[in-house]
Amino acid sequence: MSKQNDAVYFNPWDPAFRANPYPHYKPLLEGPPRILDLFGPTAMVARYADVTAVLRDHARFSAVRPRDPNMPDEGPFKGAITMLTSDPPIHTRLRRLVSRDFTPRRIRELEPRIRELTARLLDAVERKGELDVMRDLANALPVMVIAEMLGIPSDQYATFKHWSDTVITGDNTLPGTPLPPEFHECSDALRSYFAAEIESRRKNPGPDLISALVAAHEESEVMSADELLAFVVLLLLAGNETTTNLIGNGMLALGRNPEQMELLRRSPELVPRAIEEFLRYDGPVQSTARFTKEPVNLGGTELPANAVCFIILAAANRDPAQFRNPDRLDVTREPNDHVALGEGIHFCIGAPLARLEGSIAIGSLVQRFPNLRLKRPDETPVYKGSYFLRGLDSLRMLIE
Ligand code: HEM
Repeated sequence: MSKQNDAVYFNPWDPAFRANPYPHYKPLLEGPPRILDLFGPTAMVARYADVTAVLRDHARFSAVRPRDPNMPDEGPFKGAITMLTSDPPIHTRLRRLVSRDFTPRRIRELEPRIRELTARLLDAVERKGELDVMRDLANALPVMVIAEMLGIPSDQYATFKHWSDTVITGDNTLPGTPLPPEFHECSDALRSYFAAEIESRRKNPGPDLISALVAAHEESEVMSADELLAFVVLLLLAGNETTTNLIGNGMLALGRNPEQMELLRRSPELVPRAIEEFLRYDGPVQSTARFTKEPVNLGGTELPANAVCFIILAAANRDPAQFRNPDRLDVTREPNDHVALGEGIHFCIGAPLARLEGSIAIGSLVQRFPNLRLKRPDETPVYKGSYFLRGLDSLRMLIE
């Protein structure tokens, strides 16, 4: 498999590429989308104008991955349709069902609880006198919040986190190579666990999101049993690793730019703007995909029908045609129309929750520890297994 083409080097399986993909995006920002041999011929869509054009045009660029009839339906969804991988009208139906649980107003009601959980995690950090942002805060907080929303008992969080991490790391497997056995074990465990939870809510409904979805399913059959299970699993996966990595990538960016950290400490009202900047500067979701439904000319490149488009959100967010000094972290940046949360009909439904959790977590760290700084500023940080979901394994900081 060649990933070289002129000056472009694109190899998401190379740890050095994963540690810093940004210089490799630059040649892709300089001209029309190129076709690289990635998993087969793939159109590399990186420029801001091309990325937004594709994501806004769901009529010609489908989110439905064409299926190979010879391949088994592996993975946590077992082939069931999810919101993320469907087009209208299915997408419209699935999204409408859950929209009301994710409105900014509904999410704001969670604020006191998220503050309480964050304070409790940071109390433990203070007692220990040392901080690993990932271990002590970023890994724990999002899984606690989403699990509470779903009505899962807190003694299950660690198991959950393990399942979800293993399933997500599965996408680090080279195409054509079988997925590791632990991927299948964890994916099956996750599905069986939720199938049982759904069954128990059917008998004993509660005030949680799973019960609300079960009720919607039973009232109108608008969601099939398979879709219901796939959606709950999607929420757990999408709501977990992404926000974890917003907190981790954001704190690394601040650690490397201490003057920006100081600015944020002095002006806490900048925190929401800083969150947008962390999303733009080093986003947790590097890329997504779309598939042409018909022949299309995209930014000067002719694409046939059924072409695979690799949409590099994180490259668009560094496009100098859209952002002044794109490689500079600027927590006061405005406007900041990044695409880290997507664009168009699939725009992240969890955005209000991610923004709230990110603001509370990062705002609390910066305020609570005035001497916060990287423990080893010159160390190259270690990234977790996935390229698509970019996040750190560990991030040690000094608090005194
Ligand atoms: C910083 C954290 C997050 C980032 C960077 C992020 C990023 C994204 C992106 C880029 C998309 C669009 C993908 C595409 O168009 O192919 C998306 C969709 C989605 N996200 Fe998020 N997300 C985050 C947090 C969350 C949270 C907390 C939840 C749920 C609790 C969530 C649930 C979803 C769902 C269900 C979709 C599919 C929406 C649709 O297809 O209509 N995300 N997210």
